[in-house]
Amino acid sequence: MSHSKHLLIKSIYQRNIERTPIWIMRQAGRYLPEYIATKNKAGGFMSLIRNPELACEVTMQPLKRYSLDSAILFSDILVVADMFNMNLRFEDKKGPIFDNPIRTEADLKKIPSQLDISKLSYVNETIKNIKGELNESLPLIGFIGSPWTVATYLIEGNSTKQFAYVNEMLKSNPSLLVKILEMITKGSTDYVKQQIENGVDALMIFDTWGGLLSKENYEKFSLSFIQKIILSTKKDGVPIIYYSRSKSNFAELKKLDINCVGISSENNLGEMYKFFDKKFAIQGNLDVDILKEDESTIKKEITKTLDAFPFKSGHIFNLGTGITPDIHPDKVAYLVDQVKELSIK
Ligand code: CP3
Repeated sequence: MSHSKHLLIKSIYQRNIERTPIWIMRQAGRYLPEYIATKNKAGGFMSLIRNPELACEVTMQPLKRYSLDSAILFSDILVVADMFNMNLRFEDKKGPIFDNPIRTEADLKKIPSQLDISKLSYVNETIKNIKGELNESLPLIGFIGSPWTVATYLIEGNSTKQFAYVNEMLKSNPSLLVKILEMITKGSTDYVKQQIENGVDALMIFDTWGGLLSKENYEKFSLSFIQKIILSTKKDGVPIIYYSRSKSNFAELKKLDINCVGISSENNLGEMYKFFDKKFAIQGNLDVDILKEDESTIKKEITKTLDAFPFKSGHIFNLGTGITPDIHPDKVAYLVDQVKELSIK
């Protein structure tokens, strides 16, 4: 894999590149009218994810419009809950919902002790379809959520930003939390292996809510479980991108066996690169709201972002968070073209 011809992979391994690669978190999403049309045809977001033909179709939609440097599997970090027999559904404007969240030992006992990875076999079909469509022209990024970030949804049951139940469990029943994290880690390890066997070229770990934890708890409740997943899959040679919306707390990350760190817009690309002793490539981090401005402002901000990383390789251009439904598709075309032009080495 480290000999890959793909620009994305070359930049992750900090090999010589002719320009900076770019892809966009949530690039197949609601800002694209063709995505909305396919989602409606499928009968909603979950039905779309579970339909390997249509999930492949929406994965390819942004690549038909823009000359991006990678595909990303169309799915969600919460599908791992299929293995826990927890019914994931999405409501418009509310996001993910689990009607039976895990908040007690009794709730946890209802989860099968033998996790059945075949519950996620539809993802295998989606990956095979995408790999066939891409025909090695671009790499495919697979992904999971970190056990901690997934746990916040399994415990809260929705996407509240209060995290009342999670914080309560951290304080009063950390051993239950550890058991939940161990279960998610077991399922995620099998799920990662399955994605790699089916041909994903890189793996991204979304630890969106890692920044909620104190320094000590971050290591104990998030990074240690991520490291377990990495150690049991790393021998397969797929590079790993770690993403967190955190502003600080990054020192503990140095110990992780990863290849790239995805950062949000509050952080500085070059400073982060040096902070990690140039050990990891850095992905990010244009503020998505910049894409609501006019082209000259967007260009200025792209230049600023590129200038923040004045090194030969090791930058993967992206937004700081996922793209939102309020962005006009033409602004994305402008972004991709400008990054390609302005970053020529
Ligand atoms: O990036 C991609 O294009 C790949 C697909 C992908 C989705 N979600 C599709 C999606 C990936 C990698 C994710 C990751 C994900 N999912 C995260 C981590 C990254 C992040 O955004 O912080 C989290 C926390 C989730 C859980 C989730 N999924 C929430 C909280 C929501 C609702 C809020 C929102 O942003 O819409 C989703 C919905 C979701 N996931 C959509 C898509 C395209 C929109 C659903 C729709 O079309 O109705």
